[in-house]
Amino acid sequence: MVKDGSCKIIRMTEDDLPEVMLIEKASFPAPWTEQAFRDEFVCPFSYPYVAKASDIHPSFVLGYICFWIILDELHLLNLAVHPVYCRQGIGRELLSFALKMGRAAGTQFATLEVRPSNIAAITLYKDAGFIPVGRRPGYYSNSKEDAIIMEYDFLKKVTDTEDMC
Ligand SMILES: CC(C)(COP(=O)(O)OP(=O)(O)OC[C@H]1O[C@@H](n2cnc3c(N)ncnc32)[C@H](O)[C@@H]1OP(=O)(O)O)[C@@H](O)C(=O)NCCC(=O)NCCS
Repeated sequence: MVKDGSCKIIRMTEDDLPEVMLIEKASFPAPWTEQAFRDEFVCPFSYPYVAKASDIHPSFVLGYICFWIILDELHLLNLAVHPVYCRQGIGRELLSFALKMGRAAGTQFATLEVRPSNIAAITLYKDAGFIPVGRRPGYYSNSKEDAIIMEYDFLKKVTDTEDMC
């Protein structure tokens, strides 16, 4: 359904929250609360977006991304895809959307934290051009797992992932 890029990416709204929360709870051991998403809606430097199937009306949430753009940095806060729709290119589309927004805003680098055990996400980020640049010991409070810090350099040439949208 979305392999050919047939999903639309639009700003997340209050109406999306029930579906977003279902995905969030299915995706993370320490999910964000509804209020955490609401805080992003009113944050002036936050960009919460959802991917929806463009060929279905009324459409539903396939996945979402939330990132901050502050001065020369884009920081990725959250990215998840509905488990049923994983491995269909939606995560890559959401990430490429964020990178394109960052480039348009003139950011120089993008950063994120990821669990070392999250092979799916690490593979996605590496494919997009992110590289590991450091580690935050015990970053995840629920499991005390370290975080790998990954960085994307906008000054490099445009990657295939960024090129997708
Ligand atoms: C990580 C996540 C967002 C990926 O979304 P997705 O829509 O399934 O990813 P895509 O289909 O766009 O995959 C793009 C590439 O990522 C890599 N990838 C995705 N899932 C993978 C997996 N389970 N194992 C290995 N590589 C994987 C592959 O390189 C894939 O390309 P390919 O399908 O051509 O081989 C999704 O697995 C998810 O929601 N996970 C739970 C939440 C999460 O961990 N978020 C990240 C927090 S840092």
